[in-house]
Amino acid sequence: MSSPASIPPTQSLATARDRLIVALDFPTAPAALDLVARLEGRALWFKVGLELYLATGPSIIEILRARGFHVFVDLKLHDIPNTVAGAVRSLASFGASLLTVHAAGGRPMLLAAAEAAARNPDGPELLAVTVLTSMDAQQLAETGVPNTPASQVMRLAKLAHAAGVSGMVCSPQECAHLRAYLGPYRLLVVPAIRPAGSPADDQSRTATPAHALHDGASLLVVGRPITRAPNPAAVVDSILAEMEHSLPV
Ligand code: C5P
Repeated sequence: MSSPASIPPTQSLATARDRLIVALDFPTAPAALDLVARLEGRALWFKVGLELYLATGPSIIEILRARGFHVFVDLKLHDIPNTVAGAVRSLASFGASLLTVHAAGGRPMLLAAAEAAARNPDGPELLAVTVLTSMDAQQLAETGVPNTPASQVMRLAKLAHAAGVSGMVCSPQECAHLRAYLGPYRLLVVPAIRPAGSPADDQSRTATPAHALHDGASLLVVGRPITRAPNPAAVVDSILAEMEHSLPV
């Protein structure tokens, strides 16, 4: 499938830089901000996950915002509906653009999260995490799910979409199907991106930046291929060049 021109409500996706999110999986703010400084002028988006958020609290979101970056807060909320709705409300005012909940939390939880997010139109857009990109069919089966990752991703995406959470996180291997289901205007945020030759690490369902964009990804999330590189800026430049060639015309 050729890549449609996805138009999210809040951000431009016109250039490769608009579509690359660097995952700041670091244990301290200084370590994260050192990488941010090294990528100044290249990266526009940073992702704050559990490791960094638990070390710094919400101040890291405000610091990144004050420096002009877009922030994806990837806390993958997964709890009872009342608790998740409260967490969405608590996170709404810090200036993040994107926030994740687990679709596996179920319909009432997704409805509560969507309702809490809708009450604050200036708050982050909610994304539903479908099946973790580290999981393969065997790991899924061990949790009691007999489906392939692809069919489970689609099942959870339909559940989340029906509950009002229309942006999704999936692996690059499910992008084409999910894009066909969601149409061109919904956000599809895609981790497990590996430039050719990069190790997969703990990820199971990987693909290259070009593959993910071709299949309809809106935004690509890249962590270790950049953060563990001797020259992170050079890796970002090379990923951006690959992405530039794969953007829809
Ligand atoms: O280092 P790597 O590129 O594998 O990092 C991927 C990032 O995307 C990590 O921060 C991880 O938490 C996040 N993520 C993921 N799979 C999901 C959702 C988020 O790998 N399904």
